[in-house]
Amino acid sequence: MATHERSIFGLTVCKNSHPDIRKIRRETGDPSIHGNKFWKSSILLMDYLQEYPLRKRARVLEVGCGWGLAGIFCAKHFNARLTSLDADSSVFPYLEYHAELNGIGVNTWRCRYEKIRMADLEQFDVIIGADICFWDQMSDMLYNLISRARRAGVSRVVMTDPGRPPFRTMAERLMHKQGAEYFDWHSAHPHNASGILVNLSFS
Ligand SMILES: C[S@@+](CC[C@H](N)C(=O)[O-])C[C@H]1O[C@@H](n2cnc3c(N)ncnc32)[C@H](O)[C@@H]1O
Repeated sequence: MATHERSIFGLTVCKNSHPDIRKIRRETGDPSIHGNKFWKSSILLMDYLQEYPLRKRARVLEVGCGWGLAGIFCAKHFNARLTSLDADSSVFPYLEYHAELNGIGVNTWRCRYEKIRMADLEQFDVIIGADICFWDQMSDMLYNLISRARRAGVSRVVMTDPGRPPFRTMAERLMHKQGAEYFDWHSAHPHNASGILVNLSFS
């Protein structure tokens, strides 16, 4: 089975060719909003958080989780209490499979990120997201989500992206209006992932 798996920052991640992943796909169908695989922006997020960690036992919300490996990384390495959110519930079997494989627990939440209310955000300390800003309208949706999170008392937001224009638009606005850090990030061999990252720490 090992040829169908890889180890990424201490996590076991299945390839699409893994028999169990193929079985999930047969039984539940393919996710429909690009949550059909593990995206490299999650590697960037893990790499960055390894260098600039979360505080232990933070309540983490991963938005647009897909297979959810970035959140699983936070649960495994920082003991985060994890909630993984996606608009497409067909990603959850892949997420739950990887959570179990890596020995962590997760709550799932089917919701669109533009629908998350301030009262919901009060339950979280940290929001993360990887490759979730790929259509033009997503820039405003995510900018507004982060503004609500700040008002709700969330203390940190970290998001990564391969460098798509809608993410850059959002990131520049966050940098100018909310003091976000916005920079390139690279994860060296063996992962070889490059992209951009936004980090906001609210005091
Ligand atoms: C490109 S995938 C990235 C998945 C995962 N973060 C990763 O790095 O592997 C984008 C994910 O965002 C989800 N998504 C798209 N629009 C969304 C929305 N409005 N609210 C919540 N999730 C959304 C999709 O269903 C998909 O799982």
